[in-house]
Amino acid sequence: MSETKPDPQKIPQNQPSNTKLTNKQNRNADTKRKLYRETMENVRKQVRIESPTPPPQQQSDSIASTNESTPDLMELPRKRFYRQRAHSNPFSDHRLDYPTSPSTMDWSTIYPGTSLAHNRKVEIADIGCGFGGLMIDLGPQFPDSLILGMEIRVQVTQYVEDRIMALRKLHESDPGYKYDNIGVIRGNAMKFLPNFFHKSQLSKMFFCFPDPHFKQRKHKARIITNTLLSEYAYVLKEGGVIYTITDVEDLHNWMVQHLDQHPLFERLSKEWESQDKCVEIMYNSTEEGQKVERNKGSKFVACFKRLPNPDDCE
Ligand SMILES: C[S@@+](CC[C@H](N)C(=O)[O-])C[C@H]1O[C@@H](n2cnc3c(N)ncnc32)[C@H](O)[C@@H]1O
Repeated sequence: MSETKPDPQKIPQNQPSNTKLTNKQNRNADTKRKLYRETMENVRKQVRIESPTPPPQQQSDSIASTNESTPDLMELPRKRFYRQRAHSNPFSDHRLDYPTSPSTMDWSTIYPGTSLAHNRKVEIADIGCGFGGLMIDLGPQFPDSLILGMEIRVQVTQYVEDRIMALRKLHESDPGYKYDNIGVIRGNAMKFLPNFFHKSQLSKMFFCFPDPHFKQRKHKARIITNTLLSEYAYVLKEGGVIYTITDVEDLHNWMVQHLDQHPLFERLSKEWESQDKCVEIMYNSTEEGQKVERNKGSKFVACFKRLPNPDDCE
């Protein structure tokens, strides 16, 4: 049977076109996303303010019903409600909250429900944590350490916050691990790290699949540069480790070259990498790493130890 093109003259004028339908569907989807995010923002505020965990009655008050766009706290958040552009310019003047100094930061809002925030400082940082997969796998391995993800994109940060909140709720009555040592903040790691962390505070910093900024004129936006390495050396303790992984060989070479040239870092051996549990977790658990895996790409790892300060710098 031969196909004939419909005569545009014969299409009834009042029939909605595909474009109109799509626009309506888009509007509905936008409304759902907005409603979902507003509800989650209220829940987040409640959890931050009324920590440790809001009583069940208050939670059900804040969630009117359980249709598609009204979240259930026990459910992990859905990524499609947190859509955001793939990149955020680290040099833009984002409206970011940051403490004037590390001692003015109130960590109990990031880690509610645990006494850890009162007697321990953050020790492990995942810089540009994306959707938070690394922290979620690292958390149970270091239950006595506070782990922080720093992420520049608003909605990605909110997704991670909601993911952690749901995990805490899901594991609330577990006798063991409860995800209360992992947390996330929105921040630009290229600008404000010393506002969050004291000198020599961190023992591990992760840079997993950082944005590659391929063009030469954009290299200055890369998260590893000489200047930034000095800042990372300041917040890392002696013997602390910088972990890097990427699927972009050119970026791997760039990071290795800059770290090799920096007087306060020394590369750790492949043998060390093969015995370190964090390398294995970093290799397998980040969302970006899993994407690379699905696309059968390569992953390049390099880890560097923070050396002692030379005597004349003390
Ligand atoms: C390619 S993604 C990788 C995410 C995650 N590490 C992973 O492996 O799945 C890079 C992430 O770094 C974030 N990012 C880029 N520059 C940043 C900065 N200056 N401070 C904090 N986060 C940043 C981006 O928003 C993005 O989520």
